[in-house]
Amino acid sequence: MSARVVVLISGTGSNMAALLDAAADPAYGARVVAVGADRDGAGGIDRARAAGVPTFTTRFADHPDRARWNAALAERIAEHRPDLVVSAGFMRILGPETVGRFPVINIHPALLPAFPGAHAVRDALAYGVKVTGATVHFVDEGVDTGPVIDQVTVRVEPGDDVHTLHERIKAVERGMLVDVVGRLARDGWTLDGRHVRLGPTGPGPLPTSRDVAEENR
Ligand code: GAR
Repeated sequence: MSARVVVLISGTGSNMAALLDAAADPAYGARVVAVGADRDGAGGIDRARAAGVPTFTTRFADHPDRARWNAALAERIAEHRPDLVVSAGFMRILGPETVGRFPVINIHPALLPAFPGAHAVRDALAYGVKVTGATVHFVDEGVDTGPVIDQVTVRVEPGDDVHTLHERIKAVERGMLVDVVGRLARDGWTLDGRHVRLGPTGPGPLPTSRDVAEENR
């Protein structure tokens, strides 16, 4: 049985599209059962609909505060009974209502712990690093602080601007995300403090991101 994956997006959804393409092969081990957005007009929503995948939008502005938005989002996610939630270009911070309930992973366009936050590519360029990249990590209750699952490097070239560098990062990050989601789905994982090992977990439910947070306390 394929693992049920809910993908959260805010924009183009190229990472989400790569997951949809990979999941077309039943041997991949995961299928995208829903795509959610936090705003109207996220381009990836149209792509998901065209592929026949259920979509939902939980707009931040429709809720009185962050906790209630998070709770509403968690309810929408739960309707699709995910085994794994993938934050793929989702530009909002998930709270305990979400990360305490499901295992959640995120793709970030920098080599964490360097350059967390919403402007990772800009910040890496401004700092003058020669190598940057992308990270897939479990989401805990901090901002880009959860245990690292995998990373890929990208060289900063002379003359790069935010757009050219981000495009090169995007070209490699999606392959890593597809690989990680497939391996998590097929093989499971275990956590030893901050250390993630991909592979069989033995009997029992997969850990949630709250378990991840507690292991790190
Ligand atoms: C990706 O590069 C992802 O790493 C980044 O947003 C982009 C979304 O692209 N995420 C963050 O910056 C999270 N802080 P996509 O919508 O085409 O998948």
